[in-house]
This record gives sequence, C-alpha cells and structure tokens, in this order.
Amino acid sequence: MSIISVMRSSAADALLYFHNSIVARIPSHAMRRFFLRNIMKINIGEGSSIHMGLRLYTRGQISIGSHTVIDRDCVLDGRGSITIGNNVNLAPEVMVVTASHDPDDVDNFSGITEAVVIEDYAWIATRAIILPGVKIGRGAVVGAGAVVTKDVDPDTISAGNPARPIRKRKSPQNYQLNYTRPFH
Ligand SMILES: CC(C)(COP(=O)(O)OP(=O)(O)OC[C@H]1O[C@@H](n2cnc3c(N)ncnc32)[C@H](O)[C@@H]1OP(=O)(O)O)[C@@H](O)C(=O)NCCC(=O)NCCS
Repeated sequence: MSIISVMRSSAADALLYFHNSIVARIPSHAMRRFFLRNIMKINIGEGSSIHMGLRLYTRGQISIGSHTVIDRDCVLDGRGSITIGNNVNLAPEVMVVTASHDPDDVDNFSGITEAVVIEDYAWIATRAIILPGVKIGRGAVVGAGAVVTKDVDPDTISAGNPARPIRKRKSPQNYQLNYTRPFH
C-alpha cells in the first residue's frame, strides 16, 4: 500500500470518527444536517430529520428523501449504498447494513457490497437490522428487533428473525412526517 493511499484512508477514518463521535452528538439539528450534507456528502431532502447519534461507515453513498425521520442512534452503512425514500421512519437504533464477506472464500475472505432500498412510507421499528441487498417496499413495516434477510413487499408488516410477513398494512398512506426541531 502506498503512502498516499495510507494517508487517504487515515483521513477518511478521521472524518468518520469526527462525525460519529463528535458531530453526531451536537444537540443542534441544523449543525448536524449541515455537516452531513456538506462534509459527509449525504443527500438529505427537505423536511427530513436526522436525530442524534447517527453512525456512518463511509462518506457519501446514502440518499435520504423528504420528510423522513432517522431516529436516535441509527447505523447507516453506506458502503454498498442506501436509498431511503420520502416519509420513511427509522425508529431508534435501527441498523442498515450493506457490506458483508463471502464466508466460502477460504483464501481471501473477500468483501461483498449490496445496495439497500427503503421506499416511501416504510416504517422500520426499533432495533431492526436490514441486511445487504434487501428492498423494503412502499409502506412496508418491519417489526421491532427483526432481522430482514429478504425483500419486504409493499404494505406488508414483517417481523421476527428472520423476518416473515405477519399481515398487510392499510394503504395508501397519506401522511407527511415533520419532526424537525432546532434542538434535538
Ligand atoms: C410490528 C408491529 C407494528 C406489529 O403490530 P401488530 O400488527 O399490532 O401485531 P400484533 O401485536 O397483533 O402481533 C401479530 C403477531 O406478530 C407477532 N409480532 C408482533 N411484533 C413482533 C415483533 N416485533 N417481533 C416478532 N414477532 C412479532 C406477535 O407475537 C403476534 O404473533 P402471534 O399471532 O403468533 O401471537 C409491532 O409489534 C412492533 O414491532 N412495533 C414496533 C414498536 C417500536 O419499535 N416502537 C418505537 C418506534 S417509534
């Protein structure tokens, strides 16, 4: 590895540390959002609210729509890219994972990245884990503590580990989420 690439990866690590350990704890939504948009290169639509304690695994590669809520202490691993729609609600401590390893690659333990898509009006309840490559359909719900290994169909409530459909949700949803506060 050349000295330049070592310096680049150290700078990237330092930036992530600065965001995750310091900026993400500042009790000002405006300051955190400014940093996320301009330094961490995260796309954030109007009216969306990113609460304290967000943990990122990379810079960029995450797009968040409008009027979406990312509640406290969520983890967004953008290494394989994450696209989150409008009026989506991620409850506290949700984890979206987009990178993994090939367990059968006995020589290299090679890395794999797969995008996650969370469509409009989805609600991901607290402490759910969304695994790489999963698509959460429009208006779908993921129950608290679920581990989502497969796509969830639109307007379907899914729960458990591994997550399985439990019922349909009423649709279409028409609300607009507005959780932005100057200090939180
Ligand atoms: C997913 C959820 C919305 C489903 O609510 P619901 O439709 O009223 O479901 P019910 O309570 O009628 O349960 C239906 C079945 O699913 C099971 N179930 C419900 N939620 C579950 C969960 N999170 N994990 C595993 N199983 C679950 C129930 O045990 C029940 O099983 P049974 O039919 O064998 O008895 C709810 O359980 C949930 O997880 N809420 C999230 C709460 C939360 O995170 N709040 C903070 C965020 S703002």
